[in-house]
Amino acid sequence: MITVGVIGLGYVGLPLAVAFAQAGCEVVGVDLDQRKVEAVNAGQSYIEDVSSATLGQLSERIHASSRYAPLAKVDAVLICVPTPLTPNREPDLGPLMDSVRALAEVLQSDQLVVLESTTFPGTTRERVAPLLEESGLAAGRDFHLAFSAERVDPGRTDFTLHNTPKVIGGLTPACAQRAEALYALVCDELVPVSSPEAAELTKLLENIFRSVNIALVNELAMLTDRMGIDIWEVIEAAATKPYGFMRFEPGPGMGGHCLPVDPFYLSWRAREFDIATEFIELAGKVNQQMPYHCVAKAQRALNNAGLAVKGARVALLGVSYKPGVGDIRVSPALKILSLLRDLGADVSYHDPHVPLLSDFALSSRPLEEAVADADLVIIVTAHPDVDHDLVARRARLLLDLRGVTRSSGAPNVVRL
Ligand SMILES: NC(=O)c1ccc[n+]([C@@H]2O[C@H](COP(=O)([O-])OP(=O)(O)OC[C@H]3O[C@@H](n4cnc5c(N)ncnc54)[C@H](O)[C@@H]3O)[C@@H](O)[C@H]2O)c1
Repeated sequence: MITVGVIGLGYVGLPLAVAFAQAGCEVVGVDLDQRKVEAVNAGQSYIEDVSSATLGQLSERIHASSRYAPLAKVDAVLICVPTPLTPNREPDLGPLMDSVRALAEVLQSDQLVVLESTTFPGTTRERVAPLLEESGLAAGRDFHLAFSAERVDPGRTDFTLHNTPKVIGGLTPACAQRAEALYALVCDELVPVSSPEAAELTKLLENIFRSVNIALVNELAMLTDRMGIDIWEVIEAAATKPYGFMRFEPGPGMGGHCLPVDPFYLSWRAREFDIATEFIELAGKVNQQMPYHCVAKAQRALNNAGLAVKGARVALLGVSYKPGVGDIRVSPALKILSLLRDLGADVSYHDPHVPLLSDFALSSRPLEEAVADADLVIIVTAHPDVDHDLVARRARLLLDLRGVTRSSGAPNVVRL
């Protein structure tokens, strides 16, 4: 039986661990967070994409630990730790380097190590390989090393790990073959590329493509606001072109662990090559402006209703960064919340996926109560389980930042 180790049991690592266990592998999961270790061993999932029932059924095959020692017995180790930015917006490889150093202490010859975390081109060869080689084993000779980024879109059910093609870049052809043989157990389609660097940049291209296109429609949304044109109508019409156009929608700004972070891994690396990646920087700048633009719209909507922001009761609907999930990392809703509070608004929220916002000492209020009490309701993230038509009918004043109430035509609705 093939044994697989997964370092980092978060949004990426836990679904991977489950996929390999479902494919018949024995899985060892390692995480520094003792609560996650205990939850996995108790069959309790904390990730939307994995049900506790599924985890419970696999309890014989998935064992979690906060120690690295059990990884000495596995055939392959997949690294899925965070790759955040420092406060100065530079890559923070701290968690990755810590995990690789700890792995080096238990690394065995013939093992395969794959980095799944998103990072800049060169990380696998220049940062991961030398640290692993402190074990005395040589990368590409004594152990295999590859990069293959996770492409999971949390909350999505049509494309999963199984039917999303997996891009793989090995340090050597033999490394690539080993990694391909492993992922063939769980992925329908593999996309081999010539090097870890090509695979690392592929993942960044995918995220930068989204970031730049979202920034483009966000910039247009700020313009159409002044011009008095409905941006949603324009996008709808442009999307009827059968070729050469891809639909992106404006919103309150980018959130999550990927789009606001990953592009800057490349712009940082590019500086070593005397290239300023201006598209990346500009997209970041435009997207960061969106919460401010949305708060200005809220202020205008209240003003038109004869109300000041100071003292107004504002209810935010949806505070996670995307529909259907409870992830609040870098969520623009949090920025909007603090900007409104700074202006003196009394802010509450409803989010079926986020029971608590402890940093703001708030808990999710029942939908109808939150809407009935508010001078202004703002749809920040449109969760599929919220009836937005009902919200449009009940709210005194509604600011829709997601275009989900377009059919309502009600005079109390203002849109981005
Ligand atoms: N979340 C996504 O949608 C997504 C999609 C594709 C790629 N990625 C990338 O995958 C990587 C992981 O992201 P995530 O969302 O799963 O993060 P996460 O924070 O949900 O999970 C990471 C886990 O790693 C653990 N960890 C941190 N340092 C560790 C160490 N030294 N040893 C062992 N465990 C450690 C943390 O406790 C945490 O449980 C990132 O590089 C991210 O950019 C994320």
